[in-house]
Amino acid sequence: MSQPLKLTVFGNPIAHSISPMVHSVFAQQTGIAVDYGRIKVEGDFAEAAKAFFAAGGIGCNVTVPCKPNAFALVDHCTPSAEIAQVVNTIKLEVDAQGKTTLLGDNTDGRGLLTDLQRLKAPLNGAHILIIGAGGATRGIVPPLLDSKIGVKRITIVNRTVSKAQDIIDAMRALKLGTQVELVACSFEELKALAPHCNIILNATSLSLKGELPDLSDELYRHASFAYDLFYTPKGTTVFTEYCKSLGIAHVYDGLGMLVGQAALSFALWTGTMPDVGLALEQVRAQLG
Ligand code: ATR
Repeated sequence: MSQPLKLTVFGNPIAHSISPMVHSVFAQQTGIAVDYGRIKVEGDFAEAAKAFFAAGGIGCNVTVPCKPNAFALVDHCTPSAEIAQVVNTIKLEVDAQGKTTLLGDNTDGRGLLTDLQRLKAPLNGAHILIIGAGGATRGIVPPLLDSKIGVKRITIVNRTVSKAQDIIDAMRALKLGTQVELVACSFEELKALAPHCNIILNATSLSLKGELPDLSDELYRHASFAYDLFYTPKGTTVFTEYCKSLGIAHVYDGLGMLVGQAALSFALWTGTMPDVGLALEQVRAQLG
């Protein structure tokens, strides 16, 4: 029998990461054996990652706060990682001469898009409001700009407006999503703009603290779909509960995105794409 594939997730904090559990669900589903651990990064990420690959690792996930360090470390990148400038997945590649290189990918955005499509989010013609402009938003904007998705406008609201504007400028410089109207604004400006948005995505870290973004209720009124990138075992967050209380019909937490991005990492390492919907049910049951 072949050795299980040696995989891990790097980050800090990392003790609560459910990635090992998610990947063991994929392993059972696909019959591909994996040995997936967790490594807390307290010093230099690059050193920790090199030591892991020298000890037989073939791939890893990277989470907060190491994603930009992972981008700096890898030898080459997929277009998703190049555009996002952050890496959440690394694969060890070996060429015919035995030379090894590290490939970096960013599966967050495609993980979200796959989940939005699975949930039948009304993306065609959508006016999307993204709250927050951190690393998560950098990853999720590019796939939403694909002309096949049909999004009309994306408004990014952030406490630090320059970060929202930087993301838009980067997309414009790459000539991505030229058919999509892109707007960056502060929470104050958003109140004045009062855009009609049918989809609201919460990409801030506020739910982690049990806090809500400072939006007027009026903003939620035109939305039929809301999604928090944060997740909880119960499937509800302070944001999803608030959206439901305002009558938004379709409201979800971000566990599907987490499983979706993990599935894309698993596929990069193994060549086999797990069934995300099935895995999500099992992960939710195990969390419960
Ligand atoms: P991630 O990589 O998960 O996106 P991050 O880069 O730390 O994490 O980004 C967190 C996001 O939550 C940012 O948009 C941040 O706003 P700033 O860019 O202005 O810091 C947002 N955020 C965190 N605390 C917030 C608060 N109290 N009010 C409003 N936004 C907040």
